[in-house]
Amino acid sequence: MMKDMENRPSWSSQFAFIISTIGSAIGLGNIWRFPYIMGKNGGAIFLIIYLILILFICSIPLLAELILGKISQKNTLGAYCSINPKFEAFGWLNVISTIMISSFYFVVGGWVIYYILKSFTLNQITDFGQYFTNFVSGTYTPILFTLFFLFICIFFIYRGVNQGIETANKIMMPALGVLLIVLVAVSLNLPNAHLGLKFMFSPDFSEIDFSMLLAALGQALFTLSIGMGTILTYGSYLKKEDNIAKSAFTIIVADTIFAILAGVMIFPAVFSFGLQPDSGASLVFITLPKIFAQMQYGGLVALGFFFLLFFAALTSGISIVEVPVAVMIEKFNISRKKAAAIMFAIIGLLSVPVTLSFSALKDFKILGKTLFDLFDFTTANILMPVSSMIVCLVVGWCLNLANDYVFKSKTLHNIFIFMMKYILPILFIILIITGLMG
Ligand code: TRP
Repeated sequence: MMKDMENRPSWSSQFAFIISTIGSAIGLGNIWRFPYIMGKNGGAIFLIIYLILILFICSIPLLAELILGKISQKNTLGAYCSINPKFEAFGWLNVISTIMISSFYFVVGGWVIYYILKSFTLNQITDFGQYFTNFVSGTYTPILFTLFFLFICIFFIYRGVNQGIETANKIMMPALGVLLIVLVAVSLNLPNAHLGLKFMFSPDFSEIDFSMLLAALGQALFTLSIGMGTILTYGSYLKKEDNIAKSAFTIIVADTIFAILAGVMIFPAVFSFGLQPDSGASLVFITLPKIFAQMQYGGLVALGFFFLLFFAALTSGISIVEVPVAVMIEKFNISRKKAAAIMFAIIGLLSVPVTLSFSALKDFKILGKTLFDLFDFTTANILMPVSSMIVCLVVGWCLNLANDYVFKSKTLHNIFIFMMKYILPILFIILIITGLMG
């Protein structure tokens, strides 16, 4: 049975699209990666460069993905095929990347759920580092929580674009905003909060160098969910007449404000308690719990924080899994329910060995990396920039956008096309080469 185009879902409104894409963009990357990278790379000066890069450079692959999705009205595989059947491999690249990224993103999602449940008992812990290590090196508990997180994502996907994805984002994103503002207020009211702000915002011009530029570029791509077909797939549920330039701008602004506020929430608290800012897992699962345990109403604050992290990770997780699900539905003509169930099985199976990277498979290394690190490295440093380059090349060279203005101004439109065809691909090649070395 051929599913005809009539059956293809579309967003119920432009707002639904924007809030869901913001939901995809705002994720673990904003909360545990951005503030730290910014603090480490010169604070305010990093922020300025990051803003320039995200607005003028990363907006281009973002728009390219949106255009390809919107024009083709197809999943990532179908979209590339509609341009040239030989491009099918580019779509598969996205499918593989999303399956790889989800298997480690969801492991962290599982940790977040575990810490939600522990919010009110954090003050019984004495050694937070040990506590975290004990938890992740357990065999069954982390797997159970990873699968639970995956299950919740799949549930929303299973319910469809309108009933599931949109609804999840319309509820969780405002909740996320409120939680963030409350937590920022709590953090800024702690003694010596200004030290944290100083760490984040005092510019250090000596820090500007090539590696900082690359760090900013990589972070901007990751946070905008570019290079995995996510934006393409969400864009394909747009109606033809929707305006994408304005939406792209809104998404970038919202994501950036959120990332900065996440820093304003975290660093004043860290410095107020005399701790050192750390990155990634240890910041969120070791340093912050230590703070919550000592804080007044710490249990409540911890609960709010881990819920914030949960909503952020969940709305991003949903957008990642929607990519292969849309491919399965449209390529193999199966129902959404069946496609969701199959993806649950595939990602679930793959995430088990990734979860075990901290226990039974701790010493199983490929290229000197555990599976968790390998998947993280391969997706962030290789697959994402490669696919971002491909989407710019394909949209720039193979689509005729002469009558399809993305911007109202002709000059702006022409600059956009020029950047997409020449400048961005070169930048991505540099990013890939340095990423491979890193
Ligand atoms: N943008 C999300 C974050 O900041 C992660 C994410 C969701 C993502 N979908 C993606 C990253 C697709 C790359 C590609 O955490």
